[in-house]
Amino acid sequence: MGLLTLMARRFVAGKTAEAAVCAVKKLNAQNISVTLDILGEDVADRAEALKAADDYIVLLDLIAAEGVDASVSLKLTMMGLEIDDTFCYENVLRVVKAAARHGNFVRVDMEGSAVTGRTLDVVRKVFAQSPNVGAVIQSYLRRSEADVEALSEAGIKTRLCKGAYREPEAVAFQDKRDVNSSFSKLMQMLLKDGGDPAIATHDPALIAECKQIVSRNGLGKDRFEFQMLYGIRSALQRQLVAEGYRVRCYVPFGTHWLPYFLRRLRERRANVFFVLKNLFRR
Ligand code: FDA
Repeated sequence: MGLLTLMARRFVAGKTAEAAVCAVKKLNAQNISVTLDILGEDVADRAEALKAADDYIVLLDLIAAEGVDASVSLKLTMMGLEIDDTFCYENVLRVVKAAARHGNFVRVDMEGSAVTGRTLDVVRKVFAQSPNVGAVIQSYLRRSEADVEALSEAGIKTRLCKGAYREPEAVAFQDKRDVNSSFSKLMQMLLKDGGDPAIATHDPALIAECKQIVSRNGLGKDRFEFQMLYGIRSALQRQLVAEGYRVRCYVPFGTHWLPYFLRRLRERRANVFFVLKNLFRR
């Protein structure tokens, strides 16, 4: 096994659905729910996109057969968004309908700003057919306030995160303080109106602020959930559960791990130093 593969294992639960289900069981035993992600993006081949949807349907069957507490998250560029919007919509609808048969839920991850509008359009179209699908909003995007309003009005469940892609100044805040204050504003909007939002961050200041908003407004702890990534701030995930909050861990698995791993490295300088140190140690 290569060194990079070894290091990616901190963030990725394994290559197969069976390995991922093992990780789910360990998290469930700590009262942490999961959303499972099959790694993959930027698919340019129809057969590959159809196979990706099939893989998700098999995964949903496995989740049901194993009786574990896990929903799924998927990326539209894995479902054929770069091939054709209608083809992608049909593929996603197939997965969402399979999830509905099991009483399960599908979250559509948000990718780069080149596909934000089209991603939300597909989510809306799928939602009109089957409401067990949700969206993701990135607080670094300048357009996000309008998107949160529209999603809340439509009753589409939303996950709020900061955003993990490199984006130009014209579309995204560049300064961390602006990204954080946008997160704070959107979080307040979602907690007030956004039917079961997911607050997806490891940022202790924003988590503390979320708790304050909830207690100040007398909102129940069951009105939203915190979401965090597999391998990041695991102790904090357990602590929030102990405090009575709902926590869901995003657990990716599969062989196409490099782009996901690189996003995790970029988020935190210490991770890059960790990789470099280990490479030179060989
Ligand atoms: P921030 O980056 O400020 O980090 C706060 C603290 O968290 C850090 O000080 C550190 O302790 C810890 N931390 C954060 N990242 C770390 C890392 N990589 N390694 C080690 N420690 C780290 N993005 C996107 O564009 N589309 C999406 O669909 C999603 N989906 C999603 C789901 C879930 C459940 C989560 C938690 C996140 C996403 N993201 C995402 C990623 C998100 O946009 C963002 O890039 C990361 O969550 C990091 O931002 P934080 O909010 O944690 O804050």
